[in-house]
Order: sequence, then C-alpha cells, then structure tokens
Amino acid sequence: MMRLIKQILPKSLFWRSFLIVLIPVVLLQGAVAIIFVERQIENTSRRLAVGVAGDVAFVLDAMRVIEDPSLRQWTVLRASEALQINLVQSPSSTTEPIIPGYDGGIATQSLFRALDERLPYPIEVQEARANDLFIMRIDLPEGLTTVTVARKRLESPTTHIFFTWMVGAAVLFTGIAVIFLRNQLRPISRLARAAEAFGKGRPVTWLKPSGAAEVRQATAAFLEMQERITRQITQRTEMLAGVSHDLRAPLTRMRLELALLASSKSRHEADIRALEADVVEMERMIEEYLDFARGQGGEAPVETDLAALLDNIVAGASRRGAAVALETERPLAVTLRPGAIKRCITNLVDNAIRYGGGVRVAALRYNSAIEIAVEDDGPGIAPADREKVFRPFVRLDAARNPNRGGAGLGLTIARDIARGHGGEVTLSEAAGGGVRVVLRLPV
Ligand SMILES: Nc1ncnc2c1ncn2[C@@H]1O[C@H](COP(=O)(O)OP(=O)(O)OP(=O)(O)O)[C@@H](O)[C@H]1O
Ligand SMILES: [Mg+2]
Repeated sequence: MMRLIKQILPKSLFWRSFLIVLIPVVLLQGAVAIIFVERQIENTSRRLAVGVAGDVAFVLDAMRVIEDPSLRQWTVLRASEALQINLVQSPSSTTEPIIPGYDGGIATQSLFRALDERLPYPIEVQEARANDLFIMRIDLPEGLTTVTVARKRLESPTTHIFFTWMVGAAVLFTGIAVIFLRNQLRPISRLARAAEAFGKGRPVTWLKPSGAAEVRQATAAFLEMQERITRQITQRTEMLAGVSHDLRAPLTRMRLELALLASSKSRHEADIRALEADVVEMERMIEEYLDFARGQGGEAPVETDLAALLDNIVAGASRRGAAVALETERPLAVTLRPGAIKRCITNLVDNAIRYGGGVRVAALRYNSAIEIAVEDDGPGIAPADREKVFRPFVRLDAARNPNRGGAGLGLTIARDIARGHGGEVTLSEAAGGGVRVVLRLPV
C-alpha cells in the first residue's frame, strides 16, 4: 500500500507541495458544492417553484371566473408581462394526451410538485432549454391548457455566480500559491546544483544564502563545509610542496658530503656523523609527514569526556617531567575523534612546555562551542609570525636552537585536526607575554 502511494506520488518537491496545496482546496470545494447543491439549490428552487405554481393557479382560476372577453385578453396579457406566464389554450384534438409527471432537473421537479399540490388535475412539466422556458400542460376540465414560464423565474442566477466565483477564486489563489511555491523551492534546487558542482571538483562561488530559514541554514552549512574542505586541500598541497622542498636541503648536503668523502683518501669520522645526521633528519620529516597525511582518516567520532582526555594528556606530560596546571568543567562531553584531538592538544601542550614553561590548560563550554586554551610563560610568538608557524616545517627558532624542536609540523597537524572537526586553532598573547593558543570545537 505504502509502496503504491510512493509510486503514484510525484517525485519532485514542487509537485508534492503543489498537491499539498491543491488537495485541501479541491476537497473543500467539493464539500461546499455538495452541501450547497443539496440544501441551497433545492431550497431556492422549491421556493421559486411554489411562487410560480401559485401564480399559475391564480391565473387559471381568474380565467375560469372572468367571462368578459376583453378582460380575459387583458388578464392573459398582464400575466405574460408581469408574471412571465403565457397561457395557450390548445384545441384538445391536436394535442397528445397528458402523461402526468416531469422531465428535467431539480427546477422541473420542484415545479411539478408545487403544481400538483395546488391543482387537482393531471399535469405534465417539461423543460425547454432551447427557449429558456418551462412548459406545463394541464388537463383542465374545460380543455387541455399549455402554460409556459420563463426559466429565470425558476432558477436563481446566484447559483451560477456562486459556482463561477468559487472555482474562479480557487484557480486564482492556487495559481498565486504556485508562484510563491516556485520561489520557495528555487533556493533548494540551487543548493542541490551547488553540491553537485562542488562534488565534481568545481568550486562554487555563486551561491548566497537565500530563501526560508532552513534553506539559508543548509546553504550556510554547505558554504562553510566547502570552505573547510578547500582549506584542508590547500593545506595538504602546501605540505607536499614543503616536504619536497625541505628534503632537497639535506639531500644536497649529502651529495656534497659524499663527493668530499670520495675525494679524500682518509675517511673522516666527522663527515660520516654529518651524513648520518642528515639521514636521521630526513627520516623524521618523512615519518612526521606520513603521520600527518594519514591524518584522522580511519577514526570515527564518538562521545568523549574531554575532561578525562585532558587529565590523560596532563598525566603524560608530568611523566615526562613537566608540570601542567589544568582547569576544566567535569564532565565535558563532546562528540569527537578522541585519538586525533588528543594528538592535537598534546602538540599544543608540548610546544608550551618546550618553548615556554609554566603551562596552564583551561577548558570552557560555551553555547555552541568548547574552547581549550593552552598558555605558557615563554617568550611568545611575534604577531607577524602567528600565521606563519602554522605552515608545515616552519620553525621559528630553528636557527637559534637547532637541537630544540621537531620537524615544524606540530601546529600544522593541530590545526588540520581542529578543522577536520569544524573547529579552529588560533594564536594570541597570554597575559604574561607568553603564547596563548586556543582550540575551538563546535558542539
Ligand atoms: N608556545 C610557544 N612559544 C613560543 N614559540 C612557539 C610556541 N609554539 C610554537 N612555537 C614556534 O612555532 C614553531 C612551529 O611549531 P610546531 O609545533 O608547528 O613545530 P615544532 O614544535 O617546531 O615541531 P614539531 O611540533 O613538529 O615537533 C616552533 O618551532 C616554535 O618556533
Ligand atoms: Mg611542536
């Protein structure tokens, strides 16, 4: 049954909405029409018929008592003019015998009944549509009489007017509804086209949120998603470029060192050390890059207690001999990829420990987001460098402290994970001049 309905139902939203508008209108009109036909039309035609039958009976009575021919003539004339009732006294030889009854619709029937109640003679009523007349044949004792009456005396024009208006108004209003409906649906099909285009790899720049609140919301969500995905793709492309660029430096050095090794007869211990160090660096870079590229791939988002996750990270830090102060609500339930987020926050905390010290972590829940702030008392990062450090393999103090720090991927990865959750990582200055880095996750 449901399948059948599904098959019959139109597929497009427009035609479905159209049916939702149309069906109640048609049903309502049908109900009104039936009630109207049953009650109103029958009522009116009965009343009109009673009036006409009274007039006919009166005219026939008058003709029976008036003997003066000129007065009779005057009566027939007045009946025709004022009452629209015409009397035709026909010679009984030329007319067919009367079969009492009626032939026609509601008006004919009502007229027959009304006459039948008033006149004790056989009566036949017929509708002559072509002449706009009703024809009554009455078998009077003094001869068969034909009486005609104008249609408009028995039919109320309001009925037609009413139906015309009702149907006309319904068509008009449905038409207006359709125009509005089309306008409402246009943003939805636009959104569908945008999603399709973006799915095929064509960035959508022409889409603006418009239409009803829900459609606007969907459009805004789509645009945000598009931006996020585009950002992530850009970031990874940059990263690939960075990898090849950064691998070139140790490779060149290695080639140089090998050339030197080959030319010098004696093998220098220091040259081999240098070569080894370069290999180690390359290995680490590739390792970190692969880690990043693998990203949060396989992990599924689950409801997690962020407070417990933070405890875990702080405990890990203290095992490595660093004190981290933690301040958070408990429990702090969020749906996220716990492994990835742990890695993200660990990267931030590790940076704070490595480059700062006096590390404080605070988690706060707002209406639509959770913010995890990591602060330290270190030298901070100059405003000009705050975007740069998110780029892959960027290390600010690489020259100053070549032995401190890693591959320069920590913040890149942290931001990538945050964006993968619809969130963001931003840098600012802590109250004491150190770094304040905030991970913001939408809930
Ligand atoms: N809390 C901080 N205080 C001062 N400088 C910082 C801080 N966090 C990051 N930086 C600077 O930003 C650079 C980039 O940080 P990022 O975490 O991306 O890389 P990294 O720590 O050098 O290496 P990795 O995290 O991959 O081991 C760091 O090299 C450091 O110069
Ligand atoms: Mg780091």
